[in-house]
Amino acid sequence: MSIRIAPSILAADFTRLGSEIARVEDAGADLIHLDVMDAHFVPNLTFGPMVVEAVSRMTALPRDTHLMITDPDRYLEAFIDAGATTLSFHLEAFPEPEREERAAAILTRLSEAGVGRGIAVNPDTPVSLLEPWLDRIDHVLIMTVHPGFGGQVLIRECLEKIPALRQESEAVGNTITIGVDGGVNEETAADVVDAGADILVAGSAVFRSPDPAAAVERLRRAGSAAAGR
Ligand code: DX5
Ligand code: ZN
Repeated sequence: MSIRIAPSILAADFTRLGSEIARVEDAGADLIHLDVMDAHFVPNLTFGPMVVEAVSRMTALPRDTHLMITDPDRYLEAFIDAGATTLSFHLEAFPEPEREERAAAILTRLSEAGVGRGIAVNPDTPVSLLEPWLDRIDHVLIMTVHPGFGGQVLIRECLEKIPALRQESEAVGNTITIGVDGGVNEETAADVVDAGADILVAGSAVFRSPDPAAAVERLRRAGSAAAGR
């Protein structure tokens, strides 16, 4: 299993976003993680499709777009048009009675558009919520912090969801990628990979480092060592 590194630009210097992305791209980042927040689903506000579109023009790396927004279906076309490569939305964003229908419509539309179908899972949400969707998604993003802010400490218990998720998706004949998002750094990367993740999302560990390129490399080494065990 090869480990992929997805730096989150949430912690980047937006006065020079182009060169920040070029730096991690040169360092071998595999994806660029884009955290979209609406000050409603989460208590923070970041950016929308305009920035995703700009990033799409800055890099050929996949744009791993994480929608922490209420009504993700309402903004879906805008993010597809902006060049998102994978779109992960939260099932928690929907009121229970509407969840099934609205999530199904998103997944169908993503398939049609050729965009990766992702579901993100909050720390307090059991993976059983994903069961009905496991045969028709490409990616699960396991949140290891409560979404909204970078720089938080990884909640270890969340990693326990990964083996069951892997097993259940295989049981329905689907191979998914599993990303871990929140508090991933050189110290935690090995445990994250040991738990079965294949994509490491890292904001602060990369962009708050004096040398983001070296930080990407250290994460990859920590993750690959664990994967080889
Ligand atoms: C949190 C975001 C994360 C965040 C991770 O809501 O989804 O992607 O950028 O930041 P770090 O790596 O600093 O925990
Ligand atoms: Zn994220």
